[in-house]
Amino acid sequence: MSNLVVVGTQWGDEGKGRVVDFLSKKVDAVVRFQGGSNAGHTVVVGSEKFVFHLVPSGALRARKKCIVGNGVVVDPQDLLEEIKSLQSRGIKVDNLYLSGSAHIVMPYHRKIEEIEEKRRDKQKIGTTRRGIGPAYADKIARKGLRVADLLDKKVLAQKLSMALKFWKDVYGLDYSFDKMFEEYLKYGRELKKYVTDTSLLVNQLMQENKNIIFEGAQGTLLDVDHGTYPYVTSSNTISGSVCAGIGIGPTKIDKVLGVAKAYTTRVGEGPFPTEIRGKIGEILRERGKEYGATTGRARRCGWFDGVILRYAVRVNGLDELVLTKLDVLDKLERIKICVGYKYKEKIIEDFPFQLNAWEECEPVYKEMEGWMKDTSKVNRYEELPEQARKYINMIERVGGVFVRLLSVAPEREELLTIG
Ligand code: GDP
Ligand code: IMO
Ligand code: MG
Repeated sequence: MSNLVVVGTQWGDEGKGRVVDFLSKKVDAVVRFQGGSNAGHTVVVGSEKFVFHLVPSGALRARKKCIVGNGVVVDPQDLLEEIKSLQSRGIKVDNLYLSGSAHIVMPYHRKIEEIEEKRRDKQKIGTTRRGIGPAYADKIARKGLRVADLLDKKVLAQKLSMALKFWKDVYGLDYSFDKMFEEYLKYGRELKKYVTDTSLLVNQLMQENKNIIFEGAQGTLLDVDHGTYPYVTSSNTISGSVCAGIGIGPTKIDKVLGVAKAYTTRVGEGPFPTEIRGKIGEILRERGKEYGATTGRARRCGWFDGVILRYAVRVNGLDELVLTKLDVLDKLERIKICVGYKYKEKIIEDFPFQLNAWEECEPVYKEMEGWMKDTSKVNRYEELPEQARKYINMIERVGGVFVRLLSVAPEREELLTIG
């Protein structure tokens, strides 16, 4: 039996989807515990590409239970479209379980997000525009609608009319109650067969000694408490969030695996100390195809940041690391790793927790020679160029964590085991 948590260690898009797909070969269930359709998790199978938003990335493997826990915010339209799109490509999605307590992303959440982003003007977050922030805000403010509410006409009518009245008063939003009521009742009818007590289900699977992966969305630096606030998402993305997002005890988690890209990317606004604004940034973007899986936006690119990795090891209790996209660095003559920050004339090695400190931090780099060889066809760690192995060792030393799996190409079976 093993219960494994997989989380992103940077600002998202580290390759969690492909790692979860790879590891899900050997497990019984894959569980999402936070986030919503802001996530875009890519799995490449031969010439086909699948991008998962709400459905867990275990869905491509037959008979795996795919569980969406209470901590996720669900846009029913997005979820139903995703299921249909997978089915049209021959994926059955007949093992999906959805928590009745998961909150619903409503059309007014997207609208509110648009209004608030406009109001922020230059301080905008640069969200994925999926209504995630306002949906979580309603959850915490105790006025959200939950999946189970869509299954009960009376409850839906009462909660929806209250919500529409509220948003009309606050923002002047004028939605037709009748239209929205019918639409969401229909979603309820379509989703009913998936709705389950997912806490009970996951705990039962644990009692039966089944193997489970908990699939994190976004990344450590986007965590609402531990990230670069306010330039974050609206959920807790760190490993500890699994317990509340599913309803399991912390004693049940056996291992926490972090996923890091061999360099750093960020999509949206906010501090990014190792960002490269020149030509090398463009090389990384083009070679790494760094365009958002959800929004198509160009991702900002930069050097690997060891300060961030050390922080991710700390706040997630990482046991091991998976390093992805090493091949993207194949053509760089020199490669830099950030080992600390210079802040107010001092060198600091820990993550500064105030946003204004971030803005003033200058990265301190160690520079290495690149390997200038194609690694994308390498099948064993030992076959990697020596400089590439040195680079991985440096990441391990700076981060204080061992790299156990390495990926050098987007395709499904290309993960190499180390050690
Ligand atoms: P996630 O959100 O963490 O699941 O990551 P995304 O799917 O948003 O972004 C990762 C991107 O990198 C996807 O396009 C993957 O197909 C791709 N990818 C993953 N691993 C590798 C790798 O080792 N090499 C290359 N070149 N691409 C990779
Ligand atoms: P995966 O799971 C990268 C970013 C947005 C924005 C901020 C807030 O694919 O790694 P939100 O829509 O969540 O309110 O946006 O968070 N963001 C992501 N960036 N990968 C993601 O997910 C992200 N989900 C949200 O760009 O900066
Ligand atoms: Mg992504």
